[in-house]
Amino acid sequence: MSKKKKGIKNKKFLSVEDAAEYDYHLPVMLRRTIDYLVTDVNGIYVDGTLGGGGHAAEILSRLSFGGKLLAFDKDEEAIEHCRAKFWGELSTDTPRIVFVNDSFDKACDLAERGRISGILLDLGLSSHQLDDGERGFSFRQNAPIDMRFGGKGESAETLLNASGAEELERIFSRYGEEPFSRSIARRIAEVSRATPIKNTFDLANIIDQIVPKRFLNKTLARVFQAIRIAVNHELDVLETTLKNIPDSLASGGRIVVLSYHSLEDRIVKNVFRDKSKIIQSDSPFAEPAALPTLKIITNKPIIADETELTENPRARSAKLRVAEKI
Ligand SMILES: C[S@@+](CC[C@H](N)C(=O)[O-])C[C@H]1O[C@@H](n2cnc3c(N)ncnc32)[C@H](O)[C@@H]1O
Repeated sequence: MSKKKKGIKNKKFLSVEDAAEYDYHLPVMLRRTIDYLVTDVNGIYVDGTLGGGGHAAEILSRLSFGGKLLAFDKDEEAIEHCRAKFWGELSTDTPRIVFVNDSFDKACDLAERGRISGILLDLGLSSHQLDDGERGFSFRQNAPIDMRFGGKGESAETLLNASGAEELERIFSRYGEEPFSRSIARRIAEVSRATPIKNTFDLANIIDQIVPKRFLNKTLARVFQAIRIAVNHELDVLETTLKNIPDSLASGGRIVVLSYHSLEDRIVKNVFRDKSKIIQSDSPFAEPAALPTLKIITNKPIIADETELTENPRARSAKLRVAEKI
C-alpha cells in the first residue's frame, strides 16, 4: 500500500467511507474550491481535470436536478474510474454528469458556449497516476518512461531520445529550475545516442551518476516534473484555455484554478490580470481598445490550512485563484 493511502487510513478525522472514496486521489481544498465555483445551482459547470472525481462529486452535491457537469480528463482510466464512481447518477433518466475523454482546452468550443456557469482546473497529475507503476511518472518505480496523460502525442521516451542537449537543458531549467540542468542534459544526450533510454530507472541512473547524493531526490523530482510538463505541453494548454475560456462563460460565471507549480500560478495570475484591465488605444481621445472581461475574486492566491496540510502533503504547493466573467 502506498504511503499516501496508509496516511489517509490512519487519520482520525476521515471516516472509512471517506478513505475509500479518496483512495484514487485526495482532492485539495475541496469545499473552499467548490464554494467559489458554484454560484448557480441550476448552472452548467465544467470540471476540466476530473481525476478521481472528488471535486466533481462535491459539485454535483451542490447542484439541483436541473444542473449539469461536463467532466473532462485526457486519461481514459480516470474517466472509467468515474463512470463506476458515479454509476448511480448515470443510471437515472437524466444524468447530470457527461464525461469527455479529451483535453480541457476543448471546453472552449462546447455547444454550451456563453452559458457555462463555472470551470474548474485542478492542474497536474493525480496521486493515482503517480502511484501507478505503469505510467512512468515516478522515479521511485521502474516503468516505461511514458508520462502522457492521454495516449496521444510524443512520449517522454521519444522526447528524451530525440532531443539534443540544448533542448533538454532548456526543459530542465525552465520547467524544473534544476541547477544541474546542463550536465544532466549533456549526459542524457550522450548516453541516448548509444543506448536509447526506455525506462524510468534508466534516467534515474544517469542522474544518480551526476548529482551529489544529498541533492539526488530533489533533482529527480524536478527533472521528472519538467519532462512531464514538456510532454503534455501543460503550460501552453493552460495559457490558451485561460485566454479563450471567458468567451464560453455566462455573465457572472467563474474560472477556478488550483495550481501546484510557480510557472502555472504565474500564468493564471497574468492572464487574470490582463483580462481584468482596460486596454487603452494609443490615442488619448480614442475609445478603449478592449474592455475588461474578468473581475479578479482572489487578489492573493488562497493556500491550504494547517489541518489540510497534515492530512494531505500534496496540498502544500497548491494555490487557488478565482476570477469572474463580467
Ligand atoms: C490533480 S488531478 C485532478 C483531481 C480531481 N480534481 C479530483 O478531485 O480527484 C489532475 C487530472 O487532470 C488530468 N489532466 C491534466 N491535464 C489535462 C488536460 N489538459 N486536459 C484534461 N485532463 C487533464 C490528469 O489526467 C489528472 O487526472
